[in-house]
Amino acid sequence: MSKGKREVYAENQLVRLVETRKKDAQAAFENWQDPDTIKGFNGRHVRSIQQYRAKFEDWDSGKWFFYCAVQEVATGEIVGCISVSNEPHDLAIWLFAPHRGRGLGVAAFSLATNYVTEALDVERLYAGAMEDNLRAQAMLKKCGYIPHPVGNFTTTHYETGEEFTELDHIYIPPWQLP
Ligand SMILES: CC(C)(COP(=O)(O)OP(=O)(O)OC[C@H]1O[C@@H](n2cnc3c(N)ncnc32)[C@H](O)[C@@H]1OP(=O)(O)O)[C@@H](O)C(=O)NCCC(=O)NCCS
Repeated sequence: MSKGKREVYAENQLVRLVETRKKDAQAAFENWQDPDTIKGFNGRHVRSIQQYRAKFEDWDSGKWFFYCAVQEVATGEIVGCISVSNEPHDLAIWLFAPHRGRGLGVAAFSLATNYVTEALDVERLYAGAMEDNLRAQAMLKKCGYIPHPVGNFTTTHYETGEEFTELDHIYIPPWQLP
């Protein structure tokens, strides 16, 4: 993370994918206290802002294949984050709660999908969604992901202990299709 203007990785009419800054940590941490955010990831991410800030430091460490903040073009506000894990490349998104349900999820996820496959040469992207996370599933479908049942797995809910299935999805860039 550097000083000055944030690096812009990609942009469309609604959102930009930009470099993260340490000052994003507070909003991102508060967002992790929301049960719907945790539903996207099945676990309480971190319990204190100190732990979360330490994670932010991690992001420059090569632990992630790609990591960015999502900035709304109209307001310049940071509205969420996106991560891509090292192989297998799993794309994940969390929009801060006040910014959900306005189309920014589809805009940001499709932009990240295109950026990672085109500019970073990734040939296969994966994304998981809990079976009851219908909004995430709708978003994945709109972004060109298809179900990838071989990657499904059953696990237990982080809070209730109930069993549920995490539904895997795959994105194959059009130029990779037969
Ligand atoms: C999942 C998430 C990124 C979606 O972003 P969003 O901006 O809220 O979603 P969008 O407004 O782009 O809507 C996506 C689609 O889901 C649909 N949708 C919304 N709520 C829905 C619901 N309860 N059931 C079914 N579909 C729903 C929308 O109608 C939209 O489809 P449409 O454009 O055809 O109308 C966001 O809600 C979020 O960050 N959630 C918490 C974390 C999470 O679940 N991350 C996903 C892990 S991959």
